[in-house]
Amino acid sequence: MGNKTNGRFIVFEGIDGSGKSTQIKKISKRLEAFGYKVYSTFEPTDGPVGSLIRQMLSGKVPTDQRTIASLFAADRTDHLVNKVSGIRHKVDQGEIVLCDRYYFSSYAYHAQYIDMKWVIHANALNAEILRPDVTIFIDVDPDICLERIKNSRSNFEMYEKIDIMKKVRASYFKAFDALKDLEKIVIIDGNSTKGKVEDAILNEVKKVLSEIK
Ligand code: TYD
Repeated sequence: MGNKTNGRFIVFEGIDGSGKSTQIKKISKRLEAFGYKVYSTFEPTDGPVGSLIRQMLSGKVPTDQRTIASLFAADRTDHLVNKVSGIRHKVDQGEIVLCDRYYFSSYAYHAQYIDMKWVIHANALNAEILRPDVTIFIDVDPDICLERIKNSRSNFEMYEKIDIMKKVRASYFKAFDALKDLEKIVIIDGNSTKGKVEDAILNEVKKVLSEIK
């Protein structure tokens, strides 16, 4: 499979409860078994800006949406370029970076409250630093996602409400359409079994790994 010295940046997107983190773990194991060096990461990060964001999302720190959107963009820049675990460096070193959420999350979630164009603009620097080799959207029915969340957690975050989840899903598709000429986006049907979803994702990942850069 492909050239193992060439790093890749593979982003997973989806509404809350779509199974991104489960799939990232599975895909990571599969790629490691093929001999790739894999680095799994996520946004919001667990760095200083990401920690502040999590407090805001849980309602502990009051805020407004423009502030949150700006902080997410700042958290992302740090995620890309920080010296300890920056994604840009990992990719340059030949690692396969699997990232749970990236700027499409910002476009989808914050467009509920502010103009999507503004959010895209706020992330222009991040896009310049690193565009994903592919963004994989795990598409799951919002009703199924909400059931999964209810069964697995006791506390709800700000965004985990059914009407919002439906709007977020629609915004993802609006953003994919708006940026289809600049971004490589793959939609995976996430409503079937975990195994089938995993195979479909792996198939797409293999395509990206075998591309010569
Ligand atoms: P999530 O992936 O659900 O983290 P966890 O499973 O650890 O709770 O992300 C937390 C929330 O952050 C999620 O509801 C989506 C939201 N979010 C944004 O609003 N904008 C962004 O740019 C990102 C990356 C996430």
